[in-house]
Amino acid sequence: MRSIQTTPLWLVVLTSFWWMSCTPSGRSADANKLVIYADQGEETISRFIYGHFAEHLGRCIYGGIWVGEDSPIPNTRGIRNDVVEALKQIKVPVLRWPGGCFADEYHWKDGIGPREERPTMINTHWGGVTENNHFGTHEFLDLCEQIGCEPCICGNVGSGTVEELSDWVEYITFDGKSPMADLRRKNGRDEPWQVKFWGIGNENWGCGGSMLPEYYADLYRRYQTYVRGFSGNRPYKIACGPSGGNYEWTEVLMKKVSTRAMQGLSMHYYTRFRFGEDRSRGTATEFDEYQWHGILQSTLRMDDLIPGHASIMDEYDPEKRTGLIIDEWGTWFDVEPGTNPGFLYQQNTLRDAMVAAVNLNIFNSHCDRVKMANIAQTVNVLQSVILTKDEQMVLTPTYHVFEMYKVHQDAIYLPSDLDSREYDYEGESIPALSASASRDSSGLTHVTLCNLDPNESAVLECEIKDARFSSIRGRILTAVKMNAHNTFEDADAVRPIDFSDVQLSGTGFTTTLPPKSVVVLELE
Ligand code: AHR
Repeated sequence: MRSIQTTPLWLVVLTSFWWMSCTPSGRSADANKLVIYADQGEETISRFIYGHFAEHLGRCIYGGIWVGEDSPIPNTRGIRNDVVEALKQIKVPVLRWPGGCFADEYHWKDGIGPREERPTMINTHWGGVTENNHFGTHEFLDLCEQIGCEPCICGNVGSGTVEELSDWVEYITFDGKSPMADLRRKNGRDEPWQVKFWGIGNENWGCGGSMLPEYYADLYRRYQTYVRGFSGNRPYKIACGPSGGNYEWTEVLMKKVSTRAMQGLSMHYYTRFRFGEDRSRGTATEFDEYQWHGILQSTLRMDDLIPGHASIMDEYDPEKRTGLIIDEWGTWFDVEPGTNPGFLYQQNTLRDAMVAAVNLNIFNSHCDRVKMANIAQTVNVLQSVILTKDEQMVLTPTYHVFEMYKVHQDAIYLPSDLDSREYDYEGESIPALSASASRDSSGLTHVTLCNLDPNESAVLECEIKDARFSSIRGRILTAVKMNAHNTFEDADAVRPIDFSDVQLSGTGFTTTLPPKSVVVLELE
């Protein structure tokens, strides 16, 4: 990244006017204003907001992560080296597994012991394929150790017993002599693992058992009782929460379960485009500006849903003991033509990058309540950060957003006010800009910015209260086309590059954000 020294104000103003007259349509974009309150940072942005999710679905686990020890694809104990290395680069803080809908039909004892002796099962939710259980508890925890992230295990409430869940916790975390700990040792692992995050079922209002909230709340109270804190392991228990705007679910859970028994309440919200007349949503790559705008409008709903659920949680839990856990989010398009509809394989374009960037800015802004988020899903499923084809691997535009935004992990959130012009399309209006700021432990301030407008650049004046900087540098992710994406033939079509259209002023900075761009700035 290039460092830019303080520029005289007259030059800043002149440059701004020049850029404003240079918008592609020849029109001037309205000025936008960001005020960052550097002296008012109180909350930490939990690194777990930058979490991921890997389910036994399509080619996420099998092929995407697990290739087996005998594979010609370079691997460590069966796990792809290229994928692990890529995930380390974005500092994946937590990985949720084994589902998703799969979690509520998964019986963990089928996935331990010699692989050739493990029973098979049908993956009824995802394509009806045969699951051979070769990737189980040991393989998942090995994957987390290789990445250097925390595991988040989602237990089976829909079709599993309390005993199964209780045994799983004992098997993984108990360091003394017990039936489960001895079984673990027999299977080659002497030391227990530490697993902090435990999900108690998934989408139990739907694929996880079609339950009513009152019934699930009772089951939650029962199942969580047996998720014991063995051998110094302190479980953080996450209840199944609502889908989107189902506020009743949140209300019932908060009313019926004490915050002591529920450290997290999950919420799922996917970014989808409304069905067309042909009942299709469109693929990830084939879309026009109507769908670009529509998807961004749909994703911005996250900024209403979080405060909606948080305000209910505030009534029962004003001290914010229970975190809101957005453990599934991301885009959901029609599958790539010619692929198994049950495998949810979709490409990933600059539009997905905008969705990721906007959501991460939103999560940061609610970091007083949002304590974890997991994009769906890590490899080859929905809004993936990685795509694989046999031995090949591609990093998606969404991957690059996670790489650019990793600077916010565990940094102090700096409150801000953004006055943005609107981006209108056919009578629908959304803010053109999105922003977030934080200060890390070494004193560096980072600002992430998105210009959602695919046609107009945006001049942004930023004032930073109570802070002075001597240098600023930046990187940008953008492309000429809205549907630009990386393929196995052209893996670097969309990637971040240095960004220099930013000037420090006495009180902040001025920048011009190109159309459809994501920018990260570092101020020192
Ligand atoms: O991520 C795909 C699926 O979406 C998950 O299995 C389920 O929890 C959600 O409906």
